[in-house]
Amino acid sequence: MTKTVHILNGPNLNLLGQRQPEIYGRETLADVEAACAALGATLGLQVRLMQSNHEGAIVDQIHAARHEAAAIIINPGALTHTSVAILDALNAFEGPVFEVHISNVHKRESFRHHSFVSLRAEGVIAGLGTEGYQAALRRIATLLAAT
Ligand code: DQA
Repeated sequence: MTKTVHILNGPNLNLLGQRQPEIYGRETLADVEAACAALGATLGLQVRLMQSNHEGAIVDQIHAARHEAAAIIINPGALTHTSVAILDALNAFEGPVFEVHISNVHKRESFRHHSFVSLRAEGVIAGLGTEGYQAALRRIATLLAAT
């Protein structure tokens, strides 16, 4: 059976391509979804991308992934730096988790340097632009093939 990877995105990422393009680029979340779906097809993985501006909705999406996904790629946006609830939800998920940031958060304000999600993530990708999602997907394919 084809394994599914959920790609979860937090607050303001619905505006990807429009907000601060000098930091986040011109590609939209729909472009990310299309690129990851195409790559997933070559890797034998199905991809489902979601976005929410609400912390509780993201917690619910992580709970749903417990039954529906073999792995999670998550860009929690600003909730990266604040949300113990998202960390707790990810700790209740059994598969690999990869944290993606489009920008290099370590080059930016110091409040972006700490991530609660990194305590759970197998890997963290920052500063590769939207290609970071695809890098995470490739690594997940390697990990899942070994299980
Ligand atoms: C982000 C970095 C966060 O600090 C910021 O709040 C975002 C996007 C990134 O993808 O670079 O919304 O997660």
